[in-house]
Amino acid sequence: MNSWKLIRKTAFIVTMFLVIVTVFRINTLSSFAQQGDIICYGDVDGNRKIQADDALLVLKHVVKLETIQEEIPALLADIDQNSSIDAEDALQILKTVVKLIPPVPYRQGASEEPPAESEKPAEGKTLVVYFSATGNTKEVAGYIADAVGADQMELTPVNPYSAADLSWTDPDSRVVYEHDNPDAREVTLAETSVPDWDSYDTVFIGYPIWWGIAAWPVNGFVSANDFTGKTVIPFCTSSSSGIGESGILLEELAGTGNWLEGMRFRSNASKEVVQEWVGSLAVR
Ligand SMILES: Cc1cc2nc3c(=O)[nH]c(=O)nc-3n(C[C@H](O)[C@H](O)[C@H](O)COP(=O)(O)O)c2cc1C
Repeated sequence: MNSWKLIRKTAFIVTMFLVIVTVFRINTLSSFAQQGDIICYGDVDGNRKIQADDALLVLKHVVKLETIQEEIPALLADIDQNSSIDAEDALQILKTVVKLIPPVPYRQGASEEPPAESEKPAEGKTLVVYFSATGNTKEVAGYIADAVGADQMELTPVNPYSAADLSWTDPDSRVVYEHDNPDAREVTLAETSVPDWDSYDTVFIGYPIWWGIAAWPVNGFVSANDFTGKTVIPFCTSSSSGIGESGILLEELAGTGNWLEGMRFRSNASKEVVQEWVGSLAVR
């Protein structure tokens, strides 16, 4: 190859590289606009952008050129949350960059502080109602119900979520489709009415956090019931996100009831942590 051809070929490769990098960065910025500029899984370097650089960091970790040791970057790098940082995570990050998968927000410092005195609910018959796709919220609901001797009601979609449905790193999964298409989030529940509803003064409502908000199967219950005169206490489980605005959004959807701020628990919250919180509320 003569030198002129070599220069042209090199220029072509450099140009293509720059185009790819530019496209990646444009995609990154627009996908973050959706999440209000907060840190998301995949943002390994914590610069509030998911970029090819983040995937590169993961790959360097995989081939042991660099090690991700700190807890938060490691959590953010393990984008599929399978407790290992591997090439699959790098691939998932690239898929997020090109918007095949929506970014999942990560929020640090989720508050597990007990609520203020003014936040405490009224005393009376208590119901714990919850949706749980993989059992974590169900566990917490059980701890709450045991602590206060409450009745429990599990919200079950008529069309339950399989493991494949819940795979938020698969762009073709049911949850990703529902996330991307809010009209598809109306999930029909097997039951939304509660026997002897009027006898409950306090209702705990539990759900997992999905993309920073309450998993939408609870919406059907919230919109179907009248919470007038009831104290409503949201609680949720998540890998790392806080309760955020999830309770406020449900309160808006309900339009009735005295909604307290609620509490977020980590996915494998202990009975002691949950019951300590319940003990701080005036619920029997
Ligand atoms: C579709 C989907 C989206 C999720 N989004 C988030 C999220 O935004 N933030 C977070 O910390 N965890 C997220 N998670 C993790 C769950 O909130 C967490 O595992 C929860 O404890 C599951 O509760 P469950 O077992 O009751 O379904 C998500 C999980 C799924 C399946």
